[in-house]
Amino acid sequence: MAKASEIKNEDSIEIVEAYYCTECKRNHTKGKIYKEHLQFAKIENDGEEITEDDELELNKDDYSEQEEIDLAEEIEDTDLEEDIEFEEDDDFDIGEKILNDDVQNCVEAVKKLPGVGEATLKKLIKAGFNSLESIAYTPPSIIQEESGLGDKTTVRLIKASMEKLNIGFKSAEDVWEHRKNIARISTGSQELDDLLGGGLETGCVTEFFGEFRTGKTQIMHQLCVNVQLSREKGGLEGNALYIDTEGTFRPERIIQMSEALDLDHKKVLKNIVFGRAYNSDHQILLIKEAANLIKERNIKVIVVDSLIGHFRSEYIGRGTLANRQQLINSHLHDLLRLADIHPELGIVVTNQVQSKPDVFYGNPLQATGGNVVAHGSTIRIYLRKGKGEQRVAKMVDAPHLPEGEAVFSITENGISD
Ligand code: GTP
Ligand code: MG
Repeated sequence: MAKASEIKNEDSIEIVEAYYCTECKRNHTKGKIYKEHLQFAKIENDGEEITEDDELELNKDDYSEQEEIDLAEEIEDTDLEEDIEFEEDDDFDIGEKILNDDVQNCVEAVKKLPGVGEATLKKLIKAGFNSLESIAYTPPSIIQEESGLGDKTTVRLIKASMEKLNIGFKSAEDVWEHRKNIARISTGSQELDDLLGGGLETGCVTEFFGEFRTGKTQIMHQLCVNVQLSREKGGLEGNALYIDTEGTFRPERIIQMSEALDLDHKKVLKNIVFGRAYNSDHQILLIKEAANLIKERNIKVIVVDSLIGHFRSEYIGRGTLANRQQLINSHLHDLLRLADIHPELGIVVTNQVQSKPDVFYGNPLQATGGNVVAHGSTIRIYLRKGKGEQRVAKMVDAPHLPEGEAVFSITENGISD
């Protein structure tokens, strides 16, 4: 009988129930298994020992049934993916990318968590959980779903990360210390910056919503340029990550805006990581992948233009509403988590408006996405057209800023007063 790992994929079938294979001498829990091995299956695990556990640093005696499954997953993975080797200097490759020092330090911390072997580490990193913060702040169900780790392992990792980060109750003074790291990115308009309390705030999600041609996309372009400026000039000396769901990103505009600020447009373009999202699933995936790029590429602003567009066009009709709202909610929480983990990262999204036929007084235009988005975004700005190049921004919701309005212009040079 050939060894399991030598049989090609076409010869395999999906596992329905976890079983112990006396031929391989190990548990098979999920993914593909080999038809020929079914005859060796023992569905009820009657306490037989897993013998090929040499590579595990964990003490098996401490583990319950679910943990045994986790353990077996680790064995399987290490077996089937023998080509995954960690370099001696611990500087390892994920895909094509060599991790930089900052990321490396975060990964090192994850590696030191109790029970994290190479297989677990690889799964975590592949799913974007490359720091203690990302593990501590993510609900267990999401970590489990995305990394494929078992529930007990996940809970243990979260607990250990929380302990290491000292997460729990803290004094308001500590919160204030944390908020001191919050920075601002200038929008290019002094008035709009004032409305925002000094520019786009980092460490939270800001939403710009309004009708078409009100300047949402222009503001997004400008922030990608301005974030690269020095701190004295209103930037954060960082790079931008742009997720375009509508196909309206224009490098030409970036060049115009860069030249207006005497910046080398080639450098500016190079410092914008761009992702075109073709559907809502792709959009969700891009944000999950973005988690790995933030430190590595020194990303200080993430743009999603627009947040809801794909969801709206893909989920049509009342029957799909609950599902759609749930997906948007979890997507927004992915963004909010990134903001929590990285206090120096600004996250800005755009949103369309829809007309509410039952509003007789006041503004009949409402941001799409309903309450999910309204509660999710930390700061909300409503944009409307003014005279000519002028646009009016209205602060609709912010935990610490007064309501108010600002007038700015969209010119060839970008956003200005
Ligand atoms: P939708 O994505 O359609 O919902 O609109 P939006 O709010 O994203 O609009 P966008 O930011 O694309 O703004 C478009 C407006 O920007 C246009 O109406 C133009 O007036 C203005 N604009 C874009 N490029 C230039 C330019 O080079 N010079 C000037 N003066 N205005 C520009
Ligand atoms: Mg737009």
